[in-house]
Amino acid sequence: MELNQKKKIEEEINFKELLKSPIRLFGWVFVYFFLILLVLGIFFGHKLIPISFNIQSVGIIDSTTIKKEIPESKGGIIPAVDLTSIKTPGSEMIAKGKELYDANCQSCHGANGMGDGPAGIALNPKPRNFHTADGWTNGRTIDAMYKTLQEGILTRGMAAYEYLPPQDRLDIINYIRTFTEFPPITDEQINSLDNTYNLSVGINKPNTIPIQKAKIKLEEDSYDLQTVVINLRTKIIQDKENTAAKLLITNSLDLNKVLLSFINLPVKSFDDYAAGLTNAPLTLGYRPTILQLSSSEIKAVYGYLNTISAKYRS
Ligand code: HEC
Repeated sequence: MELNQKKKIEEEINFKELLKSPIRLFGWVFVYFFLILLVLGIFFGHKLIPISFNIQSVGIIDSTTIKKEIPESKGGIIPAVDLTSIKTPGSEMIAKGKELYDANCQSCHGANGMGDGPAGIALNPKPRNFHTADGWTNGRTIDAMYKTLQEGILTRGMAAYEYLPPQDRLDIINYIRTFTEFPPITDEQINSLDNTYNLSVGINKPNTIPIQKAKIKLEEDSYDLQTVVINLRTKIIQDKENTAAKLLITNSLDLNKVLLSFINLPVKSFDDYAAGLTNAPLTLGYRPTILQLSSSEIKAVYGYLNTISAKYRS
């Protein structure tokens, strides 16, 4: 009788009983649900993977960490700037300024100087919008802008453009000044520019090469120098029957030093070298005994060093 009743209840589904053990809600169907969820999970999980490969950060770039490589340029005398043209630039100067602006500045400052160039979008601080008058770091007067181009504002992501010839920089500035109204150019500003940067006399500009290249060159040079010294040293020892070579060997304290100083010193004439020898034989790598040699013997040593090292000296 008892058993019969229980079976009957089950057939009718007693919901009160069901809540006591909710697992019965699923029964065998639970496994079926689980499999469907698993398949869906694997399917979507698989689709999601490409997102994890999208490593391009969309964050804001800190302008202050951007490094700019100096381009290679030949040194020489930079022609003087015609100061009178700064105040009243000709249309060809403005055109040159635009060309240079488009090539060098537009990427950050935007085609119309709104500070909205594609390379500047993600920068913080933002590239200057030349149309607004407030918040400039160095300032909007011509001398302040020139200073910005000379030195950069490195802590804020604005690079220096000191490798551009002064006239080019002034042309760019004068082009930027066409975007909107700028403070007028005064004689004091021009004088201060001239005094600070010698614009009217021209300046002697050294060659510049990119830092990366300079590093490689330095390594190559020091490697070369080492090999040169080793080779020359070997040669001197092979030549030891030669009178000059023999004098060199017996009177030198450090043959490497003799060779290095001979190759490196800007001394070219015998008289200069002999004077250096008399003053400081040790710094040139010799024993003081070198001073006891006759001047023709010293000349022979010098001539010998000159011959064997000629092709290594610049
Ligand atoms: C890599 C992007 C970048 C390039 C390229 C760039 N600038 Fe800038 N520039 C900046 C940023 C960033 C600032 C904002 C600095 C600040 O707020 O002090 C700035 C600021 C300036 C300022 C305002 C300085 C001040 O006093 O506030 C001037 C002027 C300027 N740039 C001129 C130029 C010129 C001219 C060129 C091209 C020869 C150039 N910039 C190229 C990023 C750039």
